Amino acid sequence: MGLQILVVGSGGREHALVWKIAQSPLVEKIFAAPGNPGMAKNAELVPVPVDETAKIVDFAVKQRVDLTVVGPEAPLAAGLADDLVGHGLLVCGPSRAAAQLEGSKVFTKNLLAKYGIPTADFRVFDSYDDAEQYVLTHRLPVVIKADGLAAGKGVAVAGTYEEAVEFLRDVMEKRVFGDAGERVVVEECLTGEEASYIVFTDGEKIVPLPSSQDHKRIGDGDTGPNTGGMGAYSPAPVLTPEVEQKVLREIFEPLLAGMRAEGTPFRGILYGGLMIERGMPKVLEFNVRFGDPEAQPLFMRLVSDLVPLLVQCAQGKLTDAVMEIDPRPTVCIVMASGGYPGSYRKGFPISGIEEAEGLGGVQVFHAGTAIRDGKLVNNGGRVLGVTAVDDDIRKAIERGYRAAGKIRWEGAYYRTDIGKRALLREGA
Ligand code: AMP
Ligand code: GLY
Repeated sequence: MGLQILVVGSGGREHALVWKIAQSPLVEKIFAAPGNPGMAKNAELVPVPVDETAKIVDFAVKQRVDLTVVGPEAPLAAGLADDLVGHGLLVCGPSRAAAQLEGSKVFTKNLLAKYGIPTADFRVFDSYDDAEQYVLTHRLPVVIKADGLAAGKGVAVAGTYEEAVEFLRDVMEKRVFGDAGERVVVEECLTGEEASYIVFTDGEKIVPLPSSQDHKRIGDGDTGPNTGGMGAYSPAPVLTPEVEQKVLREIFEPLLAGMRAEGTPFRGILYGGLMIERGMPKVLEFNVRFGDPEAQPLFMRLVSDLVPLLVQCAQGKLTDAVMEIDPRPTVCIVMASGGYPGSYRKGFPISGIEEAEGLGGVQVFHAGTAIRDGKLVNNGGRVLGVTAVDDDIRKAIERGYRAAGKIRWEGAYYRTDIGKRALLREGA
């Protein structure tokens, strides 16, 4: 009998997970809770939202799934992994205590400071008045972060004191992110180039995925408001082999040792958001899961079977097996609903996905899609992740954009400069 695997989530990252898991000869059946129409080809959709963790556990117990893989952070921060383990089930994802690495910026910054891991200088405040006083004497730009989870919106890089104070008020007084704003971190603004580094870990051993880079702003040239991520590519040339060694030696190894020493060992997928300046990496943040959209281009490059890695991670015993990676670069262009990350309209029919995939070397991962009256329609902010592979980064970008150009719905929007930074570096 093959394995039964449950994937929790409904975004592009989870579609990419299902797509990759379905290629494994070890797997007999995949469930996705709640999943999306793109996953329906390879998985049975279970209509349970990700925040109903008790129902997810019930399903996993009744169905006796062999492994649960959790896509988003919120159910992990709510203790989904602990509950599954409590029922004797395997889960690839950290405990609630270890998920604080993403769930609390104060926890993470204090840990980084305690173990001498490079990050921006910072102060923590739980009083608005003290925070304001400090911010007004801080050099600009100043970075302010709500302590808790805020769906990627809890950070301001403020260029003026007005902006800084307004954000601080929103977070600490108006509580626009609820209890996440009880405390704030105020920190220095780092400069350099950002990259994402994502690893599998059993708490001690580390098996890294290749580097990748996200594009967080909505507009070309990194302009406009932050989003969940408008595109990604892999590898990120800024993460040279030398920098990668530093990232492992100076950041991931001491961090995991610190988590063990604190009695909260981290087991699962650990994502470092890094700033790299002149070959020196510093931590911007940690996420306790795969990146979205980084997972899409990463899984497209992963030749090895993903399932043994997920199982070993869950069991807490990763082996030394090296991952086989396609040397060719991949690019993911996120197609979003017009108006995102502000308000947008849903329900427009989507066409052209088959033609896009017909180009070859292209996978279109679904995120905010739904079926209405038998038609595929847009149903969320980020709708599709058009992911392409080719011999070099320029060709991969071109292939991705040719594919995206075939897909249509009313108001569809995407950035036109995904991967440009890698191109510039190659040209340099
Ligand atoms: P975070 O959620 O901490 O990753 O912050 C979201 C985004 O804010 C990051 O991807 C960076 O672009 C930016 N950011 C966060 N912290 C800093 C910092 N100390 N210096 C400069 N930019 C930052
Ligand atoms: N792409 C950024 C994230 O997954 O948090």
